[in-house]
Amino acid sequence: MSEILVTENIQGVSMVRLMDDLDVEFDAYLWQNVDQLKEKIKNAKALIVRNQTQVNRELIDAAPDLKIIARAGAGLDNVDTQYAHEKGIVVCFTPDANSLSVAELAIGLMLSLLRKVPEARQDTLTGGWNRIKFTGAELHGKTLGLIGMGRIGTLTATRARAFGMNIIAADPYLSADAPHLKQMNGKLVSLDELLAQADVVSCHSPLTPDTRKMLTYRHFCLMKPTAFFINTSRGEVVDESGLTQALLEHKLAGAALDVRETEPPNQCPLNQMENVILTPHIAAFTLEAQERVVDSVCEDVRLVLSGKKAIHVFEP
Ligand code: MLT
Repeated sequence: MSEILVTENIQGVSMVRLMDDLDVEFDAYLWQNVDQLKEKIKNAKALIVRNQTQVNRELIDAAPDLKIIARAGAGLDNVDTQYAHEKGIVVCFTPDANSLSVAELAIGLMLSLLRKVPEARQDTLTGGWNRIKFTGAELHGKTLGLIGMGRIGTLTATRARAFGMNIIAADPYLSADAPHLKQMNGKLVSLDELLAQADVVSCHSPLTPDTRKMLTYRHFCLMKPTAFFINTSRGEVVDESGLTQALLEHKLAGAALDVRETEPPNQCPLNQMENVILTPHIAAFTLEAQERVVDSVCEDVRLVLSGKKAIHVFEP
């Protein structure tokens, strides 16, 4: 039984150092076996997870000595932060470490969708040379609708502005005269207005009880038939069957999903659609972001275990 339990694949130089210096059990697949996890966490003082370990009441109750839960990532939807707080356990996360990488993937998916890169690649690999078929569209002059304009939404907007896109945003926490919105000539609109006006909709909303299945068939039907939907936030924000139905009925032109309702997802009609790009929740997976993420969680764990205050603490 180790002092520090790592239950998912979280690698990097700082993790190697942590393993050299302290008593760490690293098991990349432990999140899949809840019984074993509950057994191993009995004497742990620190738990390091990504988004797959369900750090719920049951698990927290199985860990009477736990001092810190360190989430290697930004989303805390898999951690019962309120209960951890009540139990006096520090919850740390890495809110800034991977924002840039997520924003860059959102832009990459935008370009891939509008220029039909995956379909063109597939066609070329099977002997095709169809230039007219793969005529795309420019980002320049198009309207980007951001659902959520926090850190990642803002970084995505800044990059989209460099491509000459216009920005509109729907965000209950944003005011119409927010300086960063004004600076990019952005406009705050309702969710329905955003869906009706945008050429590309990019979702950057955290998963909360209010945002779960926030985007349904009705919402996708509001989109222009030429518009694209991108999700790099959380899959559960979208009612995937509603999106699938809307795509089948050509209510929108296509979609790129890095996150899914169930991860890994089951076989579904989205897999067969040429105008849909599916990636395995890789938005935060760049060398740079992962180094920052791992540095951050390892530093916080060291601090807390040596009786000091952690740096990236989440306050519920
Ligand atoms: C995040 O929340 O930081 C990203 O979605 C990556 C992850 O969940 O590990």
